[in-house]
Amino acid sequence: MSTQAVSRQVSIRNFAAELRKFPEAAFDRTEQIFNFLQNTPVAPDTLSPYLTWDRQHYTRNLVDKTPLYELVAICWEVGQISSVHNHRDQNCWMAVPVGRLRVENYRVLSQDLDKGTCQLKSAEIVEMNPTHPCAVDPLEPVHRVLNPREFNQRAVSLHVYSRPFDTCVVYSPEQGTCGEIKLHYTTEYGKKTK
Ligand code: SIN
Repeated sequence: MSTQAVSRQVSIRNFAAELRKFPEAAFDRTEQIFNFLQNTPVAPDTLSPYLTWDRQHYTRNLVDKTPLYELVAICWEVGQISSVHNHRDQNCWMAVPVGRLRVENYRVLSQDLDKGTCQLKSAEIVEMNPTHPCAVDPLEPVHRVLNPREFNQRAVSLHVYSRPFDTCVVYSPEQGTCGEIKLHYTTEYGKKTK
């Protein structure tokens, strides 16, 4: 018989309320928020106000936002994939209440944003699923997230970005190019963004 403790699922509402209780210092390192994600799985059925699906692109759905962080639910159809990107020197944690996702990390060997050039090398690959959240390594924050065809199911991830940011640098490892892009929400607090 397994003696491993199973964490009880909480609603997304309670998850957000608990996240709001963390002091500023908790968002400056990865450990405390990672442990919170690990010990506080979100009940998938409570996510429905934030789930929007688009066959062309994954959707970004704002759940909560404070000066310290934003909480975004991302909906991934089978085969969808984010660009290789950084997180503007911010911390980022990801949990996956629905399905499975793969994170592919990259090491930046060189980068010149003014010239739009870079050299990247593939690094670790990790899988996220309902029992395995992930904290982006602040020393190696460049990655992409994908819902590979072989996983064969939709996925929903919850992202805590601290501080909130609305731009990031995207990279093409194959072409050796990079550039800044603006980030948008598909919905905000359950309503379509105007
Ligand atoms: C995003 O926030 O748009 C990308 C999520 C990720 O791949 O980390």
